[in-house]
Amino acid sequence: MTQAVGIARAHTNIALIKYWGKRDKDLFLPMNSSLSLTLEAFYTDTKVVFDEELTADSFFLNGIEQSKTEIKKISRFLDLFCEYTGERPFARVESFNFVPTAAGLASSASAFAALALAVADALKLDMTRQELSTLARQGSGSSTRSLFGGFVEWSMGTSSGDSMAHPVDDADWDVGMLVLAVDTQEKKIASRVGMEHTVQTSPFYPAWIETAKEDLKAIKAAIATKDFEAVGQITEHNGMKMHATTLSANPPFTYWTADSLLAQEAVRRVREELQVPAYMTMDAGPNVKVLCRVSDMKILIEALSAYFPSEKIIASLPGPAAYVLSEEDWEQSKIHFAKGSQG
Ligand code: ADP
Ligand code: DP6
Repeated sequence: MTQAVGIARAHTNIALIKYWGKRDKDLFLPMNSSLSLTLEAFYTDTKVVFDEELTADSFFLNGIEQSKTEIKKISRFLDLFCEYTGERPFARVESFNFVPTAAGLASSASAFAALALAVADALKLDMTRQELSTLARQGSGSSTRSLFGGFVEWSMGTSSGDSMAHPVDDADWDVGMLVLAVDTQEKKIASRVGMEHTVQTSPFYPAWIETAKEDLKAIKAAIATKDFEAVGQITEHNGMKMHATTLSANPPFTYWTADSLLAQEAVRRVREELQVPAYMTMDAGPNVKVLCRVSDMKILIEALSAYFPSEKIIASLPGPAAYVLSEEDWEQSKIHFAKGSQG
């Protein structure tokens, strides 16, 4: 092989039952199993070119050459595949985020799922999606789930080989998400750092783990019976409990800003006024996501527009599993990005 090329798209996912803490930092083994909804509106497109002529790895994100630290993360990730292929040539990785980067909107989830699939495509690896998810996991935990569409569970597993994702339900039953993008600047505390500090210092952490297990069981039962209200209530409660662990860490911290609180209050008011079920969740960033019925999106957006400029309200249907792109799709994607359609 002188050159091997792979291109893939993966959509982001938002956890309804959060992953928040690692039991093994090097292997990205989580403290608890989690469950998410893949989103159609946000995704990452990534191209990898392994080339025997190259003398180093390189990484371009959104057209900009990345720092040594970022390239190192990519190199380390690509090295994971050597277990399957033996030594590898250096690679050029190019990626476009159609989602704000590092703003709590799960760019790392779509990023490493897209990269994992692009590598598998380039190297023609004979791996199942679930196996591939064990590798994506080691780029960023949440990316484990982005290889699949709809509702997806990441089982914590007993070791690196079985800590993997699997699809739970394709979510084609009137369920979607609104993102209230109050602030899309890069966050100050990376999820990785925030969760580690919480595991080490929050006295509430053991309770988080215990109740996350119960929440997962309950949400899976609610998804199986398509009980939207139960799915939403469990989601909202689980998210709030995760954030309670950051407030109880020592020293305490929070990803919420004043605008996050305004957004939360807007969701509470709107659902009360309209008597429409809509449930919020937040991740390691200030933005608020609202799980709602697709058939209620229009009235919810109208009502929420009284509180936010409508360009800050992004509606998403459930998204598909990650998939391979052609060179032609890739060229289109670059044009699309250049036109400013990224988040
Ligand atoms: P987010 O909330 O966006 O997931 P994180 O702090 O968890 O934020 O992850 C952001 C990090 O993920 C970035 O700093 C970068 O290291 C990595 N990342 C984001 N997008 C890409 C991409 N397209 N390809 C490779 N790595 C990426
Ligand atoms: C709050 O997957 O970004 O979004 O594994 O360290 O890369 P690393 O962390 P990351 O953390 C996601 C945390 C979360 C919850 C979730 O997505 O489950």
